[in-house]
Amino acid sequence: MTGTLNPAGEHPAEIPEYPMARAAGCPFDPPPALHAMQEEGPLAKVRLWDGSTPWIVTRYAEQRALLADPRISVDVTRPGYPSPTPIRGSSPISFILMDDPEHARLRRMVTAPFAIKRVEALRPAVQKITDDLIDTMLAGPKPVDLVEAFALPVPSLVICALLGVPYADHDFFQENSKTIIKRSATPEQRSAALGRLAGYLNDLLDEKLANPGDDMLSQLTERIKTGELSREGAAQMGVLLLIAGHETTANMIALGTLALLENPGQLALLRDADDPKLVSSAVEELLRYLHITHNGRRWVALEDIEIDGQVIRAGDGLIVANDIGNRDPGAFPDPDRLDIRRDARHHVAFGFGVHQCLGQPLARMELQVVYSTLYRRIPTLRLATDLDQVPFKHDGSVYGVYELPVTW
Ligand code: HEM
Repeated sequence: MTGTLNPAGEHPAEIPEYPMARAAGCPFDPPPALHAMQEEGPLAKVRLWDGSTPWIVTRYAEQRALLADPRISVDVTRPGYPSPTPIRGSSPISFILMDDPEHARLRRMVTAPFAIKRVEALRPAVQKITDDLIDTMLAGPKPVDLVEAFALPVPSLVICALLGVPYADHDFFQENSKTIIKRSATPEQRSAALGRLAGYLNDLLDEKLANPGDDMLSQLTERIKTGELSREGAAQMGVLLLIAGHETTANMIALGTLALLENPGQLALLRDADDPKLVSSAVEELLRYLHITHNGRRWVALEDIEIDGQVIRAGDGLIVANDIGNRDPGAFPDPDRLDIRRDARHHVAFGFGVHQCLGQPLARMELQVVYSTLYRRIPTLRLATDLDQVPFKHDGSVYGVYELPVTW
């Protein structure tokens, strides 16, 4: 080895930059460099935009072990936290970036509406939203952008109804959410978008305080009144739920549709089976295979932690790259094949441990309704452009497509 060692005793020039690029022509696969790292071992170092060199965890078993370990923190203000972008000001998006016990205290306030029973009661309403949007698409001109006409409206309408946010404001909140999760946004743009959304939620909380309804924001105003939650905290929670509730599922709907169109055998199986069990396993497999939160979940070690003979020191940054964890052959045989009949329920697309996705029952139900309806109602659905013309969200912290022109 040549070159100068940095204070950590590393050769920075030999440490690969993260995030890495996907291979040309393989839009559904994690970057080949991540595959190579995983083959080498569960742990490696990467270099971030600011020159820092956190650990990256690439293998499934070690990822789950680490995510269940209380000696790690998501607190972005701790030294060593491997921030994906420059951070300006302190605008954490609620409990997703907090540690227990405060994280658990706040999360508990909003768990009830996402319980499986409550979510199942919403299934007929989600089915109606899905059918109505398909009716409108079928009655309109072709080709159509599936993102705008279908993938974004389904989860946006659902989360708006749950939270008590007027859907008429969707252009405003979708645009700001897009900026917040765009890696190429400047810190100023991101914090301005966060400020606009927090202000919007604050105004809505005012309305709910005066005129409570049967929705989650109204329930949060009760917590404000009892002093369990600050005004600012309630608005931040609203921002988190609004962004997480539509952006992720929308990307799964559009990217999942594209992956199925590119795998017509799998699409035919799903479309023709009329079997809820197969629909449910297709949803799990697509979540595993596509893994849309592709920039890794970020943590910092609170104490020394040993993994595979390596010691992660207290204060070291950690990136848990669940996208490659979901392609670990040790957990999923033949992992790079999309196979909707496999049992993929143990995937880590919703994370793992105390922070695992709060909205997963809702996301699963929405995806089950959409995937079991769209291809049955429009059996000849096809891409209206070449795959290499589809604009992928390489620069987003959530992967997907900006547009998906389809016809039938
Ligand atoms: C396909 C759709 C979705 C995917 C792939 C997804 C994925 C994720 C992931 C990877 C995390 C981080 C887990 C971790 O740190 O270990 C997360 C957290 C979270 N998700 Fe989702 N999500 C989806 C849909 C939703 C929906 C519909 C909601 C509804 C509001 C939601 C609300 C949340 C919340 C509140 C958190 C923070 C949980 C915590 O920190 O305790 N998500 N999600």
